[in-house]
Amino acid sequence: PRVMVLFGGRSGEHAISCATAGGVLRAIDRARYDVVAVGITRTGQWVLADDDPDRWAIRDGHLPEVDGASARVVLPQGTVDRDVQVVEDGRVARTLGAVDVVFPLLHGPFGEDGTLQGLLELADVRYVGSGVLASAVGMDKHMMKLVLAGSGLTVGPFRVLPGGATADAATLDAFVADLGLPLFVKPARAGSSLGITRVVERSQLEDAVAEARRHDPKVVVEAAIVGREVECGVLGGRAGAPARASLPGEVVVTHDRHAFYDFEAKYLDEDGVVLSCPADLPPHVTERVREVAVRAFDAVGCEGLARVDVFVTADDEVVVNEINTMPGFTPYSMYPRMWEATGVPYAELVDELVGLALE
Ligand code: DAL
Ligand code: MG
Repeated sequence: PRVMVLFGGRSGEHAISCATAGGVLRAIDRARYDVVAVGITRTGQWVLADDDPDRWAIRDGHLPEVDGASARVVLPQGTVDRDVQVVEDGRVARTLGAVDVVFPLLHGPFGEDGTLQGLLELADVRYVGSGVLASAVGMDKHMMKLVLAGSGLTVGPFRVLPGGATADAATLDAFVADLGLPLFVKPARAGSSLGITRVVERSQLEDAVAEARRHDPKVVVEAAIVGREVECGVLGGRAGAPARASLPGEVVVTHDRHAFYDFEAKYLDEDGVVLSCPADLPPHVTERVREVAVRAFDAVGCEGLARVDVFVTADDEVVVNEINTMPGFTPYSMYPRMWEATGVPYAELVDELVGLALE
């Protein structure tokens, strides 16, 4: 089958998406799949991209980026025409032929949030991962919490500052009165910790909200949860393939230069964070995390894959922090690592994900 590995995009996670694609391009079985690499530039142009994984690595703090100078690519227009076309000098230069499945390795808005999924539905092209609604719910931390809590899962205390609302002093005071300190201020729709501030003093709140609003007018304010930061991979979730959970992994921030697992700690600091996989948890806690992960996946209506991030509190309660419908596949990412630890090697994982989409 022909697989379009699609990455980059207009979100703040552009570079992380490129690094994710690098991970998948390295792992995918080229004897089995005809791979077409397509990048989306920061401004939204689709271009033919280098399929060499090394081109997309994060190296010495350098973040990769899709270059808009390459030949443009045009998606099929719908059920009649499945051929992906290459445009050069404003004209269709050639067709790439039919693409059997798109692997949308995009993180953040315009990729992980249901918009791209809607485009692919309209074009009648199959794709890996969650559909429109689950992607949209998973992207929006406000909606996500409502759906998770409404399904009986435990989420932490939070408040929402709607896009149109003014962050006046009384509103911010109320956040602190309700949630205490420290708290986390987050853009509702972003990823990789972009725009997130850990606020320890009331005086930081104005700046924290302004920072979050650089990414999204809607802001979610969360009480800090004291607990171990544990993640769990989920795979499956289509007819005949009920969702199953990987062994959990644990994020241990080892260096106090990181107040939390922020962008820097995630991708740029080689030794500030340890990903411990499988997580060293008592067996009954491991089982509870896996069960919660599958319940969260089903609650949101995910398909294919997701990574569920939780906190395990001192009394072994599992609090869901969030679900990511297109988790990172970078060398620093937990999702493929957790599946390796569970006995699913990277190439097999990719194979299963593509297979689920083709069913
Ligand atoms: N949003 C990043 C890529 C993750 O969840 O892994
Ligand atoms: Mg996320």
